[in-house]
Amino acid sequence: MSGIFISFEGPDGAGKTTALNRIAPALDALTSSEVVVSREPGGSPIAEEIRKIILDIHGTEMDDRTEALLYAAARRQHLVDVILPTLEANKILLSDRFVDSSIAYQGGGREIGTREVKDINDFAIDGHLPDLTIYFDITPEVGLARIRSDHQEAMDRLEKASLDFHKRVHDTYLQLVKDNPQRIVSINADQAPELVVKDAVDAIIKRFPDVFNGGK
Ligand SMILES: Nc1ncnc2c1ncn2[C@@H]1O[C@H](COP(=O)(O)OP(=O)(O)OP(=O)(O)O)[C@@H](O)[C@H]1O
Ligand SMILES: [Mg+2]
Repeated sequence: MSGIFISFEGPDGAGKTTALNRIAPALDALTSSEVVVSREPGGSPIAEEIRKIILDIHGTEMDDRTEALLYAAARRQHLVDVILPTLEANKILLSDRFVDSSIAYQGGGREIGTREVKDINDFAIDGHLPDLTIYFDITPEVGLARIRSDHQEAMDRLEKASLDFHKRVHDTYLQLVKDNPQRIVSINADQAPELVVKDAVDAIIKRFPDVFNGGK
């Protein structure tokens, strides 16, 4: 395996997808390797079908462990269909979310337990962790405010419950950062978009100076 696998993580509204749209071309200009962008859940035809199941029954009763297993199943298929072939072809794979999302959302947010969710994901990813993870740090309040910018002021009971959920997600992410200092680099996502992009690109160049060395 000779490519580079980089995942992008962080709470809802952290700006991952927005930043990735600019990080990918910035990296592409600095390397002779091809840069491929993918996302989870989904990223390949079967994984996108599993994504639809997860999203279809959104708002109704899906068992928390069923949800965790479906995310892990979608991840397995994405890995086999897209990530591993891309790395085998010596390319650079940027994934909008990966295994840390399951640990933070299902393990922490849904309170299944980080150990339990890590175990089923270890089975799914079979040792293929990212070479580097960029964690976009933002408080749940700021992240949610970006998403719900129309109706922040009146927090009803459900929104409050959802804020507690997002606080657990954030806390679990911070624990993952602490526990994986070699793999995960935390950047401040609560700043202007161009600064977020710069911090992410700088962190990636710093980690792989021989790959992003000026380019084509
Ligand atoms: N640095 C930033 N400052 C202010 N607003 C931002 C910033 N980055 C993104 N946004 C805005 O915040 C909202 C959420 O951004 P985005 O969809 O990129 O987040 P995300 O991390 O991909 O969220 P999700 O996990 O829900 O996919 C968008 O409306 C986007 O325009
Ligand atoms: Mg996104």
